[in-house]
Amino acid sequence: MADIRSEIEKRRTFAIISHPDAGKTTLTEKLLLYGGAIATAGMVKGKRSMKHAVSDWMEIEKQRGISVTSSVLQFRYGGYCVNILDTPGHEDFSEDTYRTLMAADSAVMVIDASKGVEKQTKKLFKVCVLRDIPIFTFINKMDREARDPFELMEEIERLLGIRTYPVNWPIGSGKSFKGVYDRGRERVLAFTANNGQHQVEQTEWEPGSEALRGALGPELYRTLQDDIELLDGAGGAFDLDAVRHGKLSPVFFGSALTNFGVEPFIREFLQMTTSPLPRRSDKGEIDPFDPDFSAFVFKIQANMNKAHRDRIAFMRICSGQFTRGEEVLHVQSGRRIKLAQPQQMMAQEREIVEEAYAGDIIGIFDPGLFSIGDTVCAPGKKFAFEGIPTFAPEHFMLVSPTDTMKRKQFIKGMMQIAQEGAVQIFKEFNGGMEEVIVGVVGTLQFDVFEYRLKNEYAVDIRMQPLPYQYLRWIQNETVDPKALDLTSDTRCVQDMRDRPLLLFTSEWNVQWAEEHNKDLRLEEFSRG
Ligand code: G4P
Repeated sequence: MADIRSEIEKRRTFAIISHPDAGKTTLTEKLLLYGGAIATAGMVKGKRSMKHAVSDWMEIEKQRGISVTSSVLQFRYGGYCVNILDTPGHEDFSEDTYRTLMAADSAVMVIDASKGVEKQTKKLFKVCVLRDIPIFTFINKMDREARDPFELMEEIERLLGIRTYPVNWPIGSGKSFKGVYDRGRERVLAFTANNGQHQVEQTEWEPGSEALRGALGPELYRTLQDDIELLDGAGGAFDLDAVRHGKLSPVFFGSALTNFGVEPFIREFLQMTTSPLPRRSDKGEIDPFDPDFSAFVFKIQANMNKAHRDRIAFMRICSGQFTRGEEVLHVQSGRRIKLAQPQQMMAQEREIVEEAYAGDIIGIFDPGLFSIGDTVCAPGKKFAFEGIPTFAPEHFMLVSPTDTMKRKQFIKGMMQIAQEGAVQIFKEFNGGMEEVIVGVVGTLQFDVFEYRLKNEYAVDIRMQPLPYQYLRWIQNETVDPKALDLTSDTRCVQDMRDRPLLLFTSEWNVQWAEEHNKDLRLEEFSRG
C-alpha cells in the first residue's frame, strides 16, 4: 500500500474558471496533453462533438450544443497527482461552478488578453474570495492583438481587489508577439506556435544579448527594457505566503491555442500551490493527513445513464485514504453505508477506483440519500463539514403543475431536483406548497427543470415569470415580516430549510430595506 502521507502531498486540486470563450477548454486540453491523459490535442477541443458523445445523458445538452455539467479530470505530471475540476462552459450553469469551487484548493482564472476582466470572471472571483483560496491568472490569446499588459494588471487589481505579480511578461502581441520574459529566470522565451505536439521546441534568449536585439527589433527591445525596469522598480516583491492566502495572484501570459507558455505555467503553478488544505467542521479543522477517511458532497448529477435513472454524488475527499468497499458513516442521516462502486473521471471516461486520497474526487452511486454539502466519514468519528453556501438566484418563476391531479408527483420531482442543487425552491413565509417559486442563477436552468419534470416525473408545468432579481437571506435569529419596513414589491419567503429571505426587484429596494430596518442583517450567500 502506498504511503498515505506522500500520496496526499502529491495532490493538487484546482478549478479553472473564466468568462465563456476566454479559453478555459483550450487550456484544460493542453494541460491534459502534458499530463499524458490525452495523446493528441483536439480531443477535448472538439467539444461540440466530443462532449456530447461522453455526456449525451442529457438531451438538452445535445439540443442546445452546450456543456451543462462539469466533470473531474485526473493525471500525473512531474511527480504530482493533478485533479482538475472542470466547470460548465455555459454561464447559465455557473451555480454548479460556484459549488465546484468549494471543492478546490486553488483556482486558475483565464482571461482573454483583448477583453480583460469580464462579467463572469468577476462573479466567480467573488466566490473564490469567500474561501481565500489562491488564485492564479493566465492571460490568454497573446497571439492575437491584446490590450496593454500594464492596463490589464491594473484592471485585475482594481476590479477584483487582489494584488498581482507578473511571473512572466509579454513582448508584443498579435502578429508582433515575440514571446515572454521569465522574470525569475531572467530569460526570454521565444514565441513558437504549436498546436498539438507534446514536446515544444524552445528558443531562449539572454536579456542583453545581440540575438534578442535582432529578434525583437529596436522598438520592442526598448519597450522590454523599460517594462522590466518598471516592473522591478515599482512592482511589489513576490510573496508566496500572500499567494497561498489568496491576497496576491501570480500572473502568466501565454497562448493556450498555440501551446505557448502552458508548460512553464503548469510547472510554476504546481510548485506555488499547496497540497490539500485542512477543512472546517463543527469539530474544528480536519487535517487532510489524518488517516481516517472523510469527504463532503459538492455536486449531484442525475441521469448519467437514463436507462438506470441513476444519480452520482461527487465527493471531495478531505482526509485520509479511501478504499473501495469500505464502510462509512453518512453523518446527515446517521446511516452506515458501503461505498461500493466509486468512480473517477479520467479525461472524461468513468472508471472504478480502488483507492483514493485526500484531494481526490470520487463519484458515488446515490440512491437518493445525499444532499449537497453532506459529510461522510469513518464510522468512529462523527462530525459535519461546514456547509456549502447557497448562492442567490437571479431569476424567479411561479410554478405549478398543469394537471392538479399530479400535485404529489410534482412536489416529489421538484424536491429531488432541488436536493441535487439544480434549482432552488421557495414558498410563502409560513405557508404551504400551494404556490412554489423556483429560483435559478441562469435561465437555461428553467429549461432543464421543465424538461426533467416532464421526462422523469411525467409532470407538465406552468411557469410564470416573476419580476424579482435580487435575493437576500435574513440572518437575524427571529423575524416578523409584517414588522419590516419594505417597498411594496418586496416579498418575504422561505427556502426549503425554512430560512427566511427577501426577494427584491431592484438593488435600490435592497438598499431601502437596509436603510429602513436598522437591525436587519442581509446576506447574499447563505452558509450551509
Ligand atoms: P472557453 O472554454 O473558455 O469557453 O473557451 P474555449 O477554450 O472554447 O475557447 C474559445 C475560443 O477561443 C475558441 O475558438 C478557441 O480556439 C479560441 N482560443 C482559445 N485560446 C486561444 C489562444 O490562445 N489564441 C487564439 N487565437 N484563440 C484561442 P472558437 O473559434 O470559438 O472555437 P473552435 O472553432 O476553435 O472550436
